[in-house]
Amino acid sequence: MNISKPVIARLIKAAAAARLKAYAPYSKFKVGAALLAADGRVFTGCNVENASYGATICAERVAVGSAIAAGCTGFLAVAIVYHQRELADPCGLCRQVLHEFGDDIVVIRANLGGGCECTTVGALLPGAFSLKRRKEVRE
Ligand code: THU
Repeated sequence: MNISKPVIARLIKAAAAARLKAYAPYSKFKVGAALLAADGRVFTGCNVENASYGATICAERVAVGSAIAAGCTGFLAVAIVYHQRELADPCGLCRQVLHEFGDDIVVIRANLGGGCECTTVGALLPGAFSLKRRKEVRE
């Protein structure tokens, strides 16, 4: 799926705005994500940390949860930002969660300085676990 430049720019802008709302008092590392649904809606997320560190949820998964709660399950792209110069890399858990909805979802790894690179969930998580391919072991 080819995502046009204006749409990429819009997603990065939405992710950067969401990042400002991050609740990250422990790591001080703010992350923003913007997920483009197949119907054109954009769902954003920021990381939400917790004093029980393992209860922290990443920006990407907050965006996915928000979309699912709104009845959306088809996604075309997600933009992620966290740093002025470094391009964002979604963590392994978020790669797996995005994979649930398609390995062809475009991942826009962006920074806050105008840079970005596009890849796909499938490229970021080759050999992802999928129950769809594990039917034979479920009885
Ligand atoms: N974080 C995200 O929100 N997304 C990622 O893909 C990587 C990590 C957050 C979790 C935690 O609040 C902070 O970044 C430091 O790990």
